[in-house]
Amino acid sequence: MDSPLSATTTRMSEDSTVPRETLTITDNRTGKSYEIPINHDTIRAADLRQIKVDPKEFGMMSYDPAFNNTASCISKVTFIDGDAGILRYRGYPIEDLAEKSTYLETAYLLLNGELPTPSQLKDWTYHVTHHTFIHESIKKFLDGFHYDAHPMGMMISTIAALSTFYHDAKDIFSAESRQKQTYRLIGKVPTIAAFSYRHTLGMPFVYPDNELSYPGNFLNMLFRTTEPKYRPNATLEHALDVLFILHADHEQNCSTNTIRGVGSSHVDPYSATAAAIAALYGPLHGGANEEVLHMLMQIGSIQKVPDFIKRVKTGEVKLMGFGHRVYKNYDPRARIIKHIAYEVFELMGKNPLLEIALECERIALEDEYFVKRKLYPNVDFYTGLIYQSMGFPMTMFPVLFAIPRTSGWIAQWEEMLLDPEQKIARPRQIYLGHNTRHYVPIDQRN
Ligand code: ACO
Repeated sequence: MDSPLSATTTRMSEDSTVPRETLTITDNRTGKSYEIPINHDTIRAADLRQIKVDPKEFGMMSYDPAFNNTASCISKVTFIDGDAGILRYRGYPIEDLAEKSTYLETAYLLLNGELPTPSQLKDWTYHVTHHTFIHESIKKFLDGFHYDAHPMGMMISTIAALSTFYHDAKDIFSAESRQKQTYRLIGKVPTIAAFSYRHTLGMPFVYPDNELSYPGNFLNMLFRTTEPKYRPNATLEHALDVLFILHADHEQNCSTNTIRGVGSSHVDPYSATAAAIAALYGPLHGGANEEVLHMLMQIGSIQKVPDFIKRVKTGEVKLMGFGHRVYKNYDPRARIIKHIAYEVFELMGKNPLLEIALECERIALEDEYFVKRKLYPNVDFYTGLIYQSMGFPMTMFPVLFAIPRTSGWIAQWEEMLLDPEQKIARPRQIYLGHNTRHYVPIDQRN
């Protein structure tokens, strides 16, 4: 972006028919006008600081709780047009990637900006596959978790603990170190997820099998019992791979904003990723898929859907898996997921909760409350049904989101680190608390 213009009084272009890429603001407190550059339909918040009544003042700020209308970075990773329902990674439509790519190839694309050549893909797959094992000591502290510990809690702690094993991870401005930690993170996240799951079952851990694909090996580590060689079902392996592609990145969502914010302090990528997983855990973000299943079970039957929708409309409850900060149209991932759901149900039998979900969607898409607010199913509305049919317990649903999102988080973290404009993330506030007060000893307080 260009450097900010300094404050000027309002001036018209020589030829007033030629539009200027600037915004003129008149401060009615002083009558002064300011001309501020517009780049990419955006003004720089820092340009507002010149607007002040008294030169000693701090200057004007913009107030935007929850970043509703604030761009925090310039990014080349993921594009979303929420009104049109478009999602692209590095320019490639999500529909194309879901149909033609694999998760590992998509992860490479997100991280490197281009699709890999055959030799690059071979090399990338080799390195990720050869970083899937975890240190034996990690098993010891996984064992310390209670049998009913939520696997997201185990994931957050265990990913953070990786920083205690890999001291070279602190060297964040070394491209070589970042590459190494990327192999480790993408390689080990499924192993830690699977080990967390096995721990909750009290089952022995299953070590990675390097001959299997990324999703195939994950299924192996989750579900293998006595068979000497686990052979993943091709339909489930493919479904999981597509789900991983769909969840790989989603521009500046809550957890990505978290990894950028935490990473801006220059902490190692394991600690920053743990923070992102914590953000994802919340029911308004990646925890929503788990909440959708609770909701569908609570509704219990198609007949009870209209009553439930009434409660949603009075604000008593939310229709989980509906609505999105950015999408004001059908989430393109939800469309693909619906398709995948039927492939999985054909193999595993239809999930009995599907009918309730479809009825919720049917009513909601016709109802004025949802239409007016542009509330459509998001990625989480159908994923839970698929995961449940595949044999996953509900607590594993957000984990299944965290595994593929790791590639997007790392791509965004690296972009943030290498962006010369970025600094430690540190928002301002509007202080409306008390002015100076003097300390009152405890025996003199009412
Ligand atoms: N059910 C009922 N009403 C809703 C829902 C919903 N799921 N989502 C939004 N609304 C209503 C709000 O009450 C608000 O109504 P109002 O204008 O009368 O006050 C209006 O729609 C706008 O909603 P906001 O809360 O302002 O939208 P915001 O962008 O802040 O929130 C969010 C987005 C958090 C996703 C929200 O839609 C939600 O809570 N959905 C349910 C949880 C969910 O599915 N999360 C997963 C999101 S996708 C992801 O993270 C992977």
